[in-house]
Amino acid sequence: MKLIYRGKAKDVYELDEDKVLIEFRDDLTAGDGAKKATKEGKGQLNAEISAKFMELLSKNGIPTHFIKFEKPNRHVAKKVEIIRVEVICRNFATGSFVRRYPFKDGQELSPHVVEFGFKSDEYHDPMINEDIAMALKLVSSEEEMKEMKRITLKVNDILSEFLLKKGIILVDFKLEFGYTGDGKLILADEISPDTCRFWDAETREIMDKDRFRRGLGDVLHFYREVKRRIEK
Ligand SMILES: Nc1ncnc2c1ncn2[C@@H]1O[C@H](COP(=O)(O)OP(=O)(O)O)[C@@H](O)[C@H]1O
Ligand SMILES: [Mg+2]
Repeated sequence: MKLIYRGKAKDVYELDEDKVLIEFRDDLTAGDGAKKATKEGKGQLNAEISAKFMELLSKNGIPTHFIKFEKPNRHVAKKVEIIRVEVICRNFATGSFVRRYPFKDGQELSPHVVEFGFKSDEYHDPMINEDIAMALKLVSSEEEMKEMKRITLKVNDILSEFLLKKGIILVDFKLEFGYTGDGKLILADEISPDTCRFWDAETREIMDKDRFRRGLGDVLHFYREVKRRIEK
């Protein structure tokens, strides 16, 4: 199998012209890779959690790259050309958002906010808008940006509702999209505690990668708890 990309948390292998095998590793990074660790079992948990969310979204009409889960820590997925735009959706203010703007930590946002970021470790994923994405040739039309935003808001509704029933608040999350060989825009990458913020709906306890970013400990305990609740 040909390794086509080794990222910060996953390895991507080419299976054939239109399929990839994505292997979720145990590596955890924060702050553009400034803080690093390996937690045994993290890759498997994220692969399992992300598979569950991708299946839920597919069932609800969202086009995704997900084909199947392969034990213990792999996804077979449609190969896409990744659009180097990260789409971030925020329901509650926290993290960089409260450092940049005068929101209180934990304040619910109305409306829910969709932001675009330039997917670039070198430039530290700066926030961009439609014009910057066009000028950088990250997308070829404004319509593409609108479509990503539209799908992201739909994903937000589906996941927020599902998670709340499991006692979890979907605080915010990041999505990546790509184009298939035949030109379809689909949701790619992963949806996991590495790429979302989850809070316990009752206690507001942090259940995601912020535990690692902030040195709160028990990282995998909470990833396991997310998995347990969403599989219930
Ligand atoms: N279906 C797909 N086809 C091709 N590449 C993908 C697909 N899904 C995700 N990717 C890319 O594979 C990489 C996954 O590895 P990751 O460790 O998340 O990398 P990064 O360090 O860039 O975040 C990402 O760059 C992501 O954009
Ligand atoms: Mg990534």
